[in-house]
Amino acid sequence: MAGTGVFAELVDGDGVFKYYSYGEWKKSSSGKSVPIINPTTRQPHFKVQACTQEEVDKLMEEAKTAQKSWAKTPLWKRAELLHKAAALLKEHKVPIADCLVKEIAKPAKDAATEAVRSGDLVSYCAEEGVRILGEGKFLVSDSFPGNERTKYCLTSKIPLGVILAIPPFNYPVNLAVSKIAPALIAGNSIVLKPPTQGAVAALHMVHCFHLAGFPEGLISCVTGKGSEIGDFLTMHPIVNCISFTGGDTGISISKKVGMIPLQMELGGKDACIILEDADLDLAASNIVKGGFSYRQHKSLYVVSSCGQRCTAVKVVLVMESVANALVEKVKAKVAKLTVGPPEDDCDITPVVTESSANFIEGLVMDAKQKGATFCQEYKREGNLIWPLLLDNVRPDMRIAWEEPFGPVLPVIRITSAEEGIHHCNASNFGLQGCVFTRDINKAILISDAMETGTVQINSAPARGPDHFPFQGLKDSGIGSQGITNSINMMTKIKTTVINLPTPSYTMG
Ligand code: G3H
Repeated sequence: MAGTGVFAELVDGDGVFKYYSYGEWKKSSSGKSVPIINPTTRQPHFKVQACTQEEVDKLMEEAKTAQKSWAKTPLWKRAELLHKAAALLKEHKVPIADCLVKEIAKPAKDAATEAVRSGDLVSYCAEEGVRILGEGKFLVSDSFPGNERTKYCLTSKIPLGVILAIPPFNYPVNLAVSKIAPALIAGNSIVLKPPTQGAVAALHMVHCFHLAGFPEGLISCVTGKGSEIGDFLTMHPIVNCISFTGGDTGISISKKVGMIPLQMELGGKDACIILEDADLDLAASNIVKGGFSYRQHKSLYVVSSCGQRCTAVKVVLVMESVANALVEKVKAKVAKLTVGPPEDDCDITPVVTESSANFIEGLVMDAKQKGATFCQEYKREGNLIWPLLLDNVRPDMRIAWEEPFGPVLPVIRITSAEEGIHHCNASNFGLQGCVFTRDINKAILISDAMETGTVQINSAPARGPDHFPFQGLKDSGIGSQGITNSINMMTKIKTTVINLPTPSYTMG
């Protein structure tokens, strides 16, 4: 279980989880800690160190120094260490899952799956890194007008330096390694600031990297209050790149930081357009799977997080002629969802904090007041909200535009595909969307018209498989993720030009 066995050294004498710096687990000199509230019991469950700005400064300096030697470590050796960390992540999936259950109320089985998916991601990243970083480009000058073949240009990818990784609460392990592994394989060092809810799971994950034997100072993990160390971290002069997943805090970070590359994923209002010719059973299954993040049996990586995914279906836009039939099918599936604690592996578990639950309730009450049709009775106990489908939602309701990040799904009835596309594109978000139709030609036209980073045809939105490109347009983010894109994003191109005294043509 959390903080036991090989993880015992993570806990100090007062039961507070330590932070990680220079290859050691340390207590903060602040003498203060931050409590982590269990979303199910709403009681403090873990405590982490409240690190100081001086401690951040020190580990930044260490990260800068460690990166210089890491960049000189052969690529195959970097990959070897990542493979070791991947195996350790899988070996220790049970204690990592235990943290996820207690910190973010992720259902037990799905929590274990997050650790396994993370191990797979790290391994794939090591393999992909070996492939793409082992190659460069060779250009010759005579292809550009006015030049003879006197210049040979060699390009390669070099690391950026120190990468600051800030993952969100809903995947504190998986979305941390999706930043850590590309950074490390590309020769960068990492400073990780996990979310408070999910910090202990992240610390366990970091210990797997520690056990794998990465050099001192290369990986650091700092915990504490965003109000004390948040800006200090993101605006730190040693940071060469920030990879952030979360909410609109990302927008304010992007306004404050200097001239460094940013990779940001900031949520979505993923629209699901259902045309008249859609397979309604398929659409209903995907709406329930996508909207309530009900586990996906066919996938190796089950997901169950009651709508707390940036890629959840967040608004259904269905043609009026098939709306009644679709809503009935979705209602029947919603009725089968189990609701309760994560320890019982229920489909719908408590949302992460009381303030999230209050926010979701605010959206529900606004829709009620403005006349939405409630397909189920609204029910809430503490942070646990029963799944709710809201039919006949109109554009004047907040739920039509805002991201609930919870098990509440609005249905808007449309009379044309164009109306659906218009609603999707009027959103300030543009992460993913999906369209259900049997007509591939219509699907392609709609996909091209939707202003989102990805459109899924006949399936709910999803980030994975983790090597697929993953990006948001508009307020949904900056840059593209996915293993290959993240490795490339965390490098710069370096060019060396060999200038010859006379033109040299092969076979000339
Ligand atoms: O919450 C944001 C995640 O990137 C979504 O990932 O589609 O695998 O659940 P997922």
